[in-house]
Amino acid sequence: LPVQVFDNPETASIDVAHKIAQLIKKKSAQGEKVVLGLATGATPVLVYQELIRLHQQEGLSFKNVITFNLDEYYPMQPDAAQSYVHFMKQQLFNHIDIDMNNVHIPDGTLPEDEIAEFCLSYEKKINDAGGLDLQILGIGRTGHIGFNEPGSAPNSGTRLVTLDDLTRRDASRDFGGKDNVPRKAITMGIGTIFKAREIVLMAWNEKKAAIVKKAVEGEISSEVPATYLQLSDQVTFILDKDAASALT
Ligand code: F6R
Repeated sequence: LPVQVFDNPETASIDVAHKIAQLIKKKSAQGEKVVLGLATGATPVLVYQELIRLHQQEGLSFKNVITFNLDEYYPMQPDAAQSYVHFMKQQLFNHIDIDMNNVHIPDGTLPEDEIAEFCLSYEKKINDAGGLDLQILGIGRTGHIGFNEPGSAPNSGTRLVTLDDLTRRDASRDFGGKDNVPRKAITMGIGTIFKAREIVLMAWNEKKAAIVKKAVEGEISSEVPATYLQLSDQVTFILDKDAASALT
């Protein structure tokens, strides 16, 4: 499994941002659209900062970019401070020249009986756009990618899921207490993620070291959904020293 270890999250994030920028420039030059799978949370923030810098200072354009985010809490209003819609606007979209019609984030406002249909249409939109060129991922301490918690099937598609207790505890600071964290989310599936032509999983910090070790070296099992990535030949793990510190 390709694992690259960097001194710190800054240098690692700049490397990932430059990989994304290369892809955008290459496909844009060929007159093609670029389809990116995006993640939220603390991990990709510096990647987005570098992409913004490349746009503002080096003229990188996102006019040909189509994005699909991994997940959104359910229920969730897009204008709520904790929504992933809000996060993506603040951290990236408000600062670049992307066409907001090309931005897709699972809809946390739907009535429950419309979610299954929405999820199928999300998958179809990804396929109709030509499939994901590059999916970036973080990893949760449960071993989740997207919000595919332990028990997720390797061929799972976009769907409504129940969040793990640990995931809700880790989110509690953003919500002012665990009880305020939604119990559910809509997430791309493991199968959806696997269809991406390239996958980059990033992890920083000592507190990810144990789960990174399981993901990279552990037995492949639905108990740690990130272990499924061992089966992919298009995945790279980008780690800082601390997140890599338990690897043998
Ligand atoms: C976010 C997502 C999650 C996070 C993971 C790590 O869209 O899909 O899998 O990547 O929970 O979160 P952070 O980066 O905050 O440690």
